[in-house]
This record gives sequence, structure tokens and C-alpha cells, in this order.
Amino acid sequence: MRAMHPLIIDCVHRLDQYLETKAINGDELDVKRAMGNLTMDVIASCAFGTQIDTHNDHKTHEFITNTQAIFQGNWRIWLIFPLMTLFPKLVEKMKLSMMSSSVQKFFKSAISSMIARRRADPKSGQYKDYLQLMINAQNRSADNSEDQDIDDLNEHIFGKTDALKDQKLGNVVISDDDMLASSFLFLVAGYETTASLLSFLTYELAINEKCQQRLYEEINAFDGNYSYESIARMPYLEACIAETLRHYPPLPAIGRICTEEYKHDNTGLTIPKGMGVNYDVHSLHHESEYYPNPEDWNPERFLPENRDHLVPYTYMPFGLGPRNCVGMRFALMEAKTAVAHLICKYRFIRTVNTRHPPTFKKFDFILNTDDRKIGVELR
Ligand code: HEM
Repeated sequence: MRAMHPLIIDCVHRLDQYLETKAINGDELDVKRAMGNLTMDVIASCAFGTQIDTHNDHKTHEFITNTQAIFQGNWRIWLIFPLMTLFPKLVEKMKLSMMSSSVQKFFKSAISSMIARRRADPKSGQYKDYLQLMINAQNRSADNSEDQDIDDLNEHIFGKTDALKDQKLGNVVISDDDMLASSFLFLVAGYETTASLLSFLTYELAINEKCQQRLYEEINAFDGNYSYESIARMPYLEACIAETLRHYPPLPAIGRICTEEYKHDNTGLTIPKGMGVNYDVHSLHHESEYYPNPEDWNPERFLPENRDHLVPYTYMPFGLGPRNCVGMRFALMEAKTAVAHLICKYRFIRTVNTRHPPTFKKFDFILNTDDRKIGVELR
């Protein structure tokens, strides 16, 4: 994580250049697109060891066009996702995929050739990205000296990354296919989710001037030192992120398959073994019993002095338990880094085209709106 922080800062600099042009020209910002470009750059850099500039190359770069093809709603998702949920074995047997074969082919060959190039590179030891970490792990040559993470995660709010807590590599052998799948999962799970968080956060800051000013003052006090350690010590920034994930959980529902028959005391309902259960995170986060005035975006709820009011298990933007999000620390670090760098230079503002409250799209997996237009000014 710490080793990848400089790579993220490089990507934020590219977003900074993009925003500067917008601010100077007085252009409106489609914040959803701008943040999506940032998270795409970050994943290309960290998970695929490739530097791209999505802000400028979004129509021409193969990596970007193929990624967009996965996320742009297409008939495959709507046909195959329900089939996967209802008849998973059938889908596996028929080798049905939500991606077209050309997109699958592209990523398979792109990732394989990146791994091959990296292995052949005599300077590969210098790389500090996820791709190299996997190659090191495969070779058992990992230098773990930098892995001692500081206490950067507020477990009181976000919970633990349980899945990784006690895992040791042991005798696990990492194959090339594992590496391919991991890089790809990084892309699928980390691109839109983190972009959603960053775009809703910037959008709410544009609406809530006082909150934006308070955030600016907190961050400005660090006087340009937005190191890996510093960004973990900004309580108001953390509260703004936590409140955005409450109000706009990027994955509004999560699912489990029931492993043993369960009788619910209050309702008398019985959930049989094997049944799929979907959990409505968005409604839970908007329940006034737990979050008074739930439609207000109010970071105060997550400030240290108010945290005792939070009720356990009522906040789960990253899921909970042993199958919660493994990318949570990374996503939070990326979001904090981006906001700390941007808020000191820019002021996000409401324009005549900023629609509030936003209207959500009905048929997207990730919480989404048509567009999120805001203005941006140099401070
Ligand atoms: C703000 C950003 C993100 C949000 C809100 C988010 C949210 C979630 C949620 C709700 C789950 C399901 C958890 C459950 O069922 O209990 C999940 C799973 C997962 N996420 Fe994230 N995620 C984010 C970013 C990322 C990133 C950046 C990565 C990759 C680096 C990532 C990788 C994964 C993976 C691999 C899983 C599956 C874990 C498993 O099944 O064991 N996520 N995420």
C-alpha cells in the first residue's frame, strides 16, 4: 500500500492538469467521468504496471476502450447475471460470460504480455506495484520490510479487512492464471466503486460550501505534506468519505447464500439452506432510527466525538465479515490522497446544471446517476 502511494500521486497529478484546464477555461466538470478517469489510471498503473492518461486518451487507448466495454451496460449482463444467480452450474458448464470474447481475449493477452515483459526486465526489482508484488509472491522473493502498515484504517467505522487478517501465503502456489485473475478483479471491483465514491464526495462538497471550507482548512494545515502517514490523520476528511459511503453506497446491495437453515425470530420466516439472500445496504444506511435526517449529507456523524452514536452492523459500504471487500484500505487511501491534493488547489462549486438531489439510474449495478455536473475554480 505504502509503496503504491507514489503511483497514485502521479495519477492525481494528471487529474490535476485536467482540472486546471477546466478551471481556466471556465468549463463545467462531469465529475463522474473525471473521477472514473482517475481510478482507471490508478488501476492501470498499480495492477497492470502500465501508465496511461485516460483524461486525454479515452477514445483511442485499447486498455481504456476494452475496460469501457465491460462496464457499459450491455445485453450480456442482463441476460447472464440472472442466469448466474439462478443456475450457476449451468452457466459454468456452458462457459457463458458477461464479457464478449474479444474483450476477454484482449485482457488475457495484455496481462500475459505485461507479466512476461516484467519478468524479462532486469530492473523489475524497482517496481512497487501490485503486479510486481504478485511476481515476488510467486517467486517467494517478497521484501516485506515495507508491509508493516501504520494504523491507517479506522476500524471503528469501516470494520476489519477480515479476509486478509490471518492469512499467510504458506504453501500456496500462485499460478500465472491467478495473477491474471487478480489483476482483472482489481479492475472490475475497484474502478467504478472508487470513482463513485470520489464523484459523489466532490459533488456533495460543491453543494455544501461550509463542509468544503472546513475540509480545506483541515487539509491546508498540513501545508502540502500529504504523505501516506498524513492522509491517515485527517478526521474530517475521513468523516466526509464515511458519510459519502453511507449516503451513496456504491454497491447498494450485497448477497450471500444461506449455508444452514435459519429461522428469523421476529418475523417467523425461515430461510432454507442454499437460498440466495440479498441485503439492501442502501435502505439500512437511510434508516432514520440509526441515522437521523438520513437524506442530509452530514459528515459530523462520523467525527470521533459522535462515533458512539453509531450502531454496530448498521454501516456496511464494504460489506462485513470474512467476505468483505479486500480492496477497502486501497480505496480509502486512493480517495484520501486524491481529495487532499485537489481540495487545496480547487474549489468545487454548484452551477445552474448541478441537479440536487440527483436522480438515480434504475438498471445499474453500481449506484449511478446520468451525469453529475459541477463547476471548478482555482483557489
Ligand atoms: C469505494 C470503493 C469500494 C467499495 C464501496 C467496495 C465495496 C465492496 C463490497 C460491498 C463488496 C462485497 C462485500 C461483501 O459481500 O460483504 C466488495 C467485495 C470485493 N471488493 Fe470492493 N469495494 C471498493 C473498492 C475495491 C477495490 C479498489 C478493490 C481492489 C483493489 C476491491 C476488491 C474487492 C474484491 C476482490 C471483493 C470480493 C471479496 C470476496 O468475495 O472475498 N474493492 N467490495
